[in-house]
Amino acid sequence: MKPDQPTTPASGTRLYSFVGGNSGNWRVTRMDPIIGEPLPVADFLQIVPEAVSGASAAWVLRGITSNERYVTRDEKSELVAKQEGLGRPASRCAMLIPIKKSAAWWNLTQDERRKIFEEQSSPIKIGMGFLPAIARRLHHCRDLGPDEPFDFLTWFEFAPENVAAFDDLTAQLRASPEWKYVSRECDIRLERISG
Ligand code: HEM
Repeated sequence: MKPDQPTTPASGTRLYSFVGGNSGNWRVTRMDPIIGEPLPVADFLQIVPEAVSGASAAWVLRGITSNERYVTRDEKSELVAKQEGLGRPASRCAMLIPIKKSAAWWNLTQDERRKIFEEQSSPIKIGMGFLPAIARRLHHCRDLGPDEPFDFLTWFEFAPENVAAFDDLTAQLRASPEWKYVSRECDIRLERISG
């Protein structure tokens, strides 16, 4: 495994490994299983902008950034105008929320999924209200192979004073119709210790 690297590499890498174990830039302050099987306990997290084996790690989760599936042109323009990037000095708190959706979700057609996502759940509208306080990056796992334990790795960074706002955001999303299709979710809270 390579030594600690910045969260956003200059190389344009899209594949990231989230390595839970004994070392890393982020200290795990809490791990809560929200839905389904918990992840093994890890004390630190290291984010590596490539695939790693992590033989000595408690777990390695891989995800790749991708094109958007649901966002409209207007939403995209608003997101681009409002959102700020990862790695802000004030963002000393982070959350890693790995999510798996059920077969029922993946058996829907794209237009059916979009209806539930955009029209019934409005997560983008909800999330927009938390910008620019919360910076985020969405990683997809499903197409990396059949053995990936999650479908999405969602990563968020924010200042300590926004912890309560983040709790409010996750509560709103978890109460939405989209979340009925979530079959596994872990909530991992972190604080930055270097970098
Ligand atoms: C700052 C707040 C947030 C904003 C602005 C935001 C925005 C977005 C956007 C624009 C997409 C759609 C991307 C596309 O078109 O494919 C998306 C997808 C997603 N978001 Fe968020 N989000 C936020 C917070 C969250 C949180 C807190 C969670 C988890 C608890 C979450 C979980 C997801 C998941 C799992 C997807 C993928 C859904 C799918 O493709 O089925 N988001 N988010």
